[in-house]
This record gives sequence, structure tokens and C-alpha cells, in this order.
Amino acid sequence: MAVKISPSVLTADFLELKENLKKLEAAGTDMLHLDVMDGIFVPNISFGLPVIKSIKKHTSLPLDVHLMIDRPHRYIKQFCEVSDWLGFHYEAGSDVAETLKEIRNNGCRSCLTIKPCTQPEEIFPFLPLCDMVLVMSVEPGFGGQKFMPEALGKLEALRAEAERQSLSLELEVDGGINAETAPLAVKAGASVLVAGNYIFSAEDMKKRAEEIKSL
Ligand code: DX5
Ligand code: ZN
Repeated sequence: MAVKISPSVLTADFLELKENLKKLEAAGTDMLHLDVMDGIFVPNISFGLPVIKSIKKHTSLPLDVHLMIDRPHRYIKQFCEVSDWLGFHYEAGSDVAETLKEIRNNGCRSCLTIKPCTQPEEIFPFLPLCDMVLVMSVEPGFGGQKFMPEALGKLEALRAEAERQSLSLELEVDGGINAETAPLAVKAGASVLVAGNYIFSAEDMKKRAEEIKSL
């Protein structure tokens, strides 16, 4: 199965985004990763629903929304209206099973996300309710950080457990993905690669996206 790419717009120039989305679509990008931060769950504030609504109007890419907000269950309905994949953090203070079910009931694919401090075994019981699991390979909050190799063992453990439970689960990895770390993550079991800085800082964004996809 070909690996999927989900570029993160966190460090993009938002006034150039419309044009850059076309380049990403032409590069065969599979989804678009949107990082929503509330300044409470993570020490940074990014963007929310109005910005995602505008982006949605200008792209055919499925939207992969990564909520980094406290008690995300309060906002699931609104975000489901604009997302294709909706993920929230295991550590964010919502009832995990109920929130995953609510995402599916509102017509989205569900994604459970874990921070570097969380061990994969903790979320094994929730895997049947997930369409995707996101393993953070940096501390959530900022783009452009260095990949934490501890994420590789977590991807391996989750891939093995998904197979044991006979689940077809997407495994996404987010943070510090580049030409060097992408093949390691794929080898460990990742099927979706988020790449922010590596793509958006490139002179030729289309070439960069194609390059990661072909690794
Ligand atoms: C960090 C975000 C990431 C970020 C990744 O909290 O979840 O999606 O944009 O950026 P890079 O690829 O630059 O590490
Ligand atoms: Zn993210």
C-alpha cells in the first residue's frame, strides 16, 4: 500500500495558501493536515473553524484536522462539519470512547492522537473505534522540531496490535518528517506522513511532496 502524505499548513504563508494548495494537489498529496491549537492544551494558538472553512472552499484534498485543544468533546460537532478525518488527543480530558464514537456518528473518520509521554498500550482498548491513530514524534505545539526516534517503537507496537485485532487502521506520524525520517517511520508501520516545515520551506514544494511520497 502506498504511503499517504498529509502536508501540515502550520508554518505556511496563509496569504499564499490558495496557490500552494494547487501545487500540493498536483503533487499527488493525499490529505491536508490542519493543526488547531487553543493555547491551553499546547503553548501555542493557531487557527480554528473560520480558517478551515475558507481552506475547504479552495481544495479538493480531504481535510485531516488535528485538534490540540482542551476537552475536545465540546467542539466535535462543529469540526465534523468541516473535516474528513478528525483527531483529538488521548490526554486532552474528554471521554475517549464517547468522543471517538461521536466523530464517527457525525460522518467523519476518527483519529486518536498520542503525545510523546503516552505509551501505545494505553490506547489498545480504543483501537476498534479508530480509523486512524496519530503518533506525535515531537511535543505538540510547534512546527520545525526534531523527530523523536521513540516514536518508531510506538508505531511498531500499534501496527502489531492492529494486526492482532484484525483492524485496518491508518497509522499517522507527525513531527520532524523529512527525507531521512520518513523511510524510518514507514518501515516502523506508518501509513500517513504529516510534513510541515519540510514541504512548506522548500523552494519547489511540488517536487518536495513528490519526493517524500516516492521514498
Ligand atoms: C505540531 C503539529 C505538526 C507540525 C509538524 O504540533 O502537530 O503537524 O505542523 O510540523 P513539522 O513537519 O515541521 O515538524
Ligand atoms: Zn499536527
